[in-house]
Amino acid sequence: MYTQAMDLDRSATPADATFTSEEQAFNARIARDEKIEPNDWMPESYRSTLIRQISQHAHSEVVGMLPEGGWITRAPSLKRKEILLAKVQDEGGHGLYLYAAAETLGVCRAELIDALHSGRAKYSSIFNYPTLTWADIGMIGWLVDGAAIMNQVPLCRCSYGPYARAMIRICKEESFHQRQGFDIVHTLVRGTPEQRRMAQESLERWWWPTLMMFGPHDKDSTHTAQATAWGIKRITNDDLRQKFVDVTVPQAEYLGLEIPDPELRWNPERGHYDFGPIPWDEFWRVVKGDGPCNKERMAARIQAFEEGRWVREAAAAHAAKARARAAAASVASEEAAA
Ligand SMILES: [Fe+2]
Ligand SMILES: [Fe+2]
Repeated sequence: MYTQAMDLDRSATPADATFTSEEQAFNARIARDEKIEPNDWMPESYRSTLIRQISQHAHSEVVGMLPEGGWITRAPSLKRKEILLAKVQDEGGHGLYLYAAAETLGVCRAELIDALHSGRAKYSSIFNYPTLTWADIGMIGWLVDGAAIMNQVPLCRCSYGPYARAMIRICKEESFHQRQGFDIVHTLVRGTPEQRRMAQESLERWWWPTLMMFGPHDKDSTHTAQATAWGIKRITNDDLRQKFVDVTVPQAEYLGLEIPDPELRWNPERGHYDFGPIPWDEFWRVVKGDGPCNKERMAARIQAFEEGRWVREAAAAHAAKARARAAAASVASEEAAA
């Protein structure tokens, strides 16, 4: 619902005389809200913007498996272990759909992964924070997956077909992730005083990094205007962040947790919560590689990639053998028929 209400007006896309006829046709399709598919003509900058955004998104999904993966063996019960295992596998699946969506734009997955491992490609800065306690697993689900949903629901209507379709499935799974996180936090706040303290302390560490997930303020965001004109981005960073704060504050109140922001208060004139300044210095430091866990995350990713090399090679060899066997069988059947 909110994505409709806050949608941006794209009918104003100009039919500029400097556009080629291909560009004009493309802009008209975007204005009519038609989906662009892999074999359709598209401006090179639209293609490269999508490759950057979708691959960055894919990298975030797989790097996002790391802060939680370490807690699978330490989850407090068999049920929690099963849920967390399924959730972390979902994130791997999200990476898979998204790498596949990026590949439809003519880029190969090995190149994308190489860009991640060499530090040329970015992933969400949130995953460079450590998960120190079990409450952090609840906080990731409730806040981080909650913020991801806020960002991703509008992408289900993005102009590029394969990305939009991948996001529909991803959002369904993210909503399960958000609920399981809320359930962990809800269980902790109903527990012992120590468990409640653990939840409060965790919220204090994750609140500001979660608000940073929506990216820089609109006035400082270099990509927003063009991505909006192309129907890739439907709602601006600041509007999404405000929506997230408005939804999350009452949930924190229900949980009896205090959001670590002395300036947070309801503004009846705006009909929104006002909140304090975001520590952008920290955001840029983490984005540029100097967060608490950047090096550790990348080392773990590269190690997992290298350790999985033999599996990829074995699967490729098996597929080649199967193809050769199928080709030999079809030659033999043609000869028998002749
Ligand atoms: Fe995900
Ligand atoms: Fe998730």
